Amino acid sequence: MLPSGEQGELTRWFHDRTGFNEMTAVALYHPVPRRSSIADLLGMFTLMAFVNEIITGVILLFFYHPTASGAWQSVHALEASTFGRFVRALHFWGANAMIVLVGAHLLRVIYVAAYKRPRELQWISGVLMLTLTIGLGFTGYLLPWDQQAYWATMVGTSIPRYVPQLGHYLVRLLRGGEWITGATLSRFYALHVFVFPALLALLLGGHIYLVLANGQSTVERELPRGYRRNHKLGDTGDFPGPEYRPFWPYTVAQMLGGCLVLLAILTWLALHYPAPLLGPADPLNKANYNPLPIWYFFWLYQLLKLTPPALDSVVMIFLPLVGGVLLLALPFLDTSTVFQPRKRPVALSVTGAVTVAVLLLTYTGYISGAPLPPAKAVANPTFTANIEPIFQADCAPCHMTEGIANLSLGSYAGVLKGGFSGRIVKPGDPGASLLIQALEGTAKGIPQMPFGKTPLPKGDIQTISNWIQQGAKNN
Ligand code: HEC
Repeated sequence: MLPSGEQGELTRWFHDRTGFNEMTAVALYHPVPRRSSIADLLGMFTLMAFVNEIITGVILLFFYHPTASGAWQSVHALEASTFGRFVRALHFWGANAMIVLVGAHLLRVIYVAAYKRPRELQWISGVLMLTLTIGLGFTGYLLPWDQQAYWATMVGTSIPRYVPQLGHYLVRLLRGGEWITGATLSRFYALHVFVFPALLALLLGGHIYLVLANGQSTVERELPRGYRRNHKLGDTGDFPGPEYRPFWPYTVAQMLGGCLVLLAILTWLALHYPAPLLGPADPLNKANYNPLPIWYFFWLYQLLKLTPPALDSVVMIFLPLVGGVLLLALPFLDTSTVFQPRKRPVALSVTGAVTVAVLLLTYTGYISGAPLPPAKAVANPTFTANIEPIFQADCAPCHMTEGIANLSLGSYAGVLKGGFSGRIVKPGDPGASLLIQALEGTAKGIPQMPFGKTPLPKGDIQTISNWIQQGAKNN
């Protein structure tokens, strides 16, 4: 606490109206062991990365057009200026850093058992903030509106489809329709720039308040018994021993040093590796395009690849849900008052095993280059809403209204009407549909379609096949 004699007139005026000095005293003058670890500052570094996201994000907002027709153009224009490219890259790398740091912070908290009583609420707010951080990454991924953004979001937003019964409605809710359009962009934009950051900031306020109120776990544990009862926080006059020193200025200096290092790393990355931007999103063209999810979803997709299709909904819905609930409930599942890492073999070996598995899956997902097999990407019924454009682009040039073989493949109605050989689509049965046979070149007496041209990409045939499988319904 500042001696009152040293307080200026203004400080006292401010203090009288806000109680500010008590608060800063708690925050600034609590005892910290001299040999405290840099790992205790991971939360602080995560916060710094978040601040970086807010500052660079606000700058990007000044230039970004949140519309399907303007988004890519505006990002492209931004990339043309040195300043714009730098700010966007800083935002990009800051977002990745935030994920890494929040993960490291989480592991550290588990390692030192800082989630235990009385810090359950700190833990819960932390897990919720982790979820919001991932949500921010996911929604931010779509905003550049390039091919990568578009098709990865197509795949990502199809995940809720695996939810029994409700799946289809959830996908529609998320996308603002069947398909990824300007409506999806509006939703993701609102979530990314307002809803998620606001919630995150709120939780963060509570999180930091609790850190101050409960004291730092590793520090509090080492304080002599009864010290807290006899000493108010901020009472520097009587520290427990010479191995302690006040938070200000020592820990603050450590933090600032750490933040400068973090900023230097981000700046270096931003200058050397600009944020990627592919060609503009093209809803009609996913030919040969293999959507890559964000790297921190690699492990989930890799797991999806390794499991039989029958387990898809288990991997995509059940596993993340149960994992999330278990994580939230951790302080209530592990209620022992043992803190030393060596005396908690179960908690730490489970955490270690999960961490190693996730890292390994992420790595194998990364080196396999294509974390998602195309067939699974298109095994998403909403792709079927996109059938018409395929026919219009590849078939209608010959099979116009009343065109060759009496087929008019410019519309759903035309496709369903059929040609010389009768109906070419048998709803629910792609194998028996002449349409699929013609596309695969297995139909008797009919050349492979499109006639005289390269066959359709496998993904397109799969998409059409899905559409028939689903009953060949018009959207
Ligand atoms: C370059 C022109 C051309 C294009 C492009 C084309 N077709 Fe054809 N298609 C034909 C011709 C010509 C026939 C008649 C072939 C015959 O009877 O020997 C035909 C016949 C068919 C038939 C058989 C109809 C029946 O009732 O016997 C189907 C089915 C068909 N096409 C589907 C498609 C589909 C689907 C596409 C788009 C992927 C497509 N075609 C693109 C020229 C074309």
